[in-house]
Amino acid sequence: MSTYDNSSWDRSPADAASSRPAEGELSPANAIRVAVEVEALRSGGLASLGAGPYVLEIGFGRGELLLAAAAEDPQRTFVGLEISRKRVRKMARRVERAELSNVRLLHAPAQYVLERALPAKCLEECWIHCPDPWPKRRHHGRRLIQARTAELLARVLEPGGRLYLSTDDPAYAEWIDGVFSRQPAFANLFAPHRWSWEAPARPRTGYEEDWIADGRAIAYFAYARRDAGEPHVASQPAREHP
Ligand SMILES: C[S@@+](CC[C@H](N)C(=O)[O-])C[C@H]1O[C@@H](n2cnc3c(N)ncnc32)[C@H](O)[C@@H]1O
Repeated sequence: MSTYDNSSWDRSPADAASSRPAEGELSPANAIRVAVEVEALRSGGLASLGAGPYVLEIGFGRGELLLAAAAEDPQRTFVGLEISRKRVRKMARRVERAELSNVRLLHAPAQYVLERALPAKCLEECWIHCPDPWPKRRHHGRRLIQARTAELLARVLEPGGRLYLSTDDPAYAEWIDGVFSRQPAFANLFAPHRWSWEAPARPRTGYEEDWIADGRAIAYFAYARRDAGEPHVASQPAREHP
């Protein structure tokens, strides 16, 4: 069973309305081009995002990484997914100012898009950087990374597709490792290490920049989606979930 209650997103008129592109705030052409209605993706398929290959960033925040990556790599389409409408609106303006034609934005909860809107095996890469750590034990159920999310990520990534994550929170790093070491669809690319402390060769996200300036270490994770037939070789002995 899903840990996310999709029904509220499906049924609430307010949510349905807020999933629409922020038309009035963008030039008309850009409103159509950049902000994609989640229901259009759900019913119309990947064509509504433009041509692939596709990279998805979940929770892009201020969007620094997505903008830099899209500018560097015009051959791929970079899809930014955010639960915050304000962030989608601001990002759409940034994309427009940067004149990038290979960025699409979705305003919706990640769980809904992964489960209902994206077709299986459609993503070359997915990024989830510095997701909210929800440090209190009673809030752990709100964490984005859950066993169900890992299952859904395995559904949407193509075989060999890459999943990259990062966190500045040591307890969340343990949690992320726990979730993915139990998900046989993913191979840990840092094995035998559980994660890497070394910054990858890519621009930093806004939160990564802030945390590093604050003297905090970032844990980086990288996984490959196994082919269905490939056996799972655990890189770590099974441990209790933190
Ligand atoms: C701590 S911020 C990190 C932003 C960015 N990734 C960075 O590293 O700078 C987490 C972001 O995830 C978004 N978010 C939280 N839960 C989400 C969900 N279920 N679906 C999509 N986005 C989500 C928040 O709105 C926020 O922008």
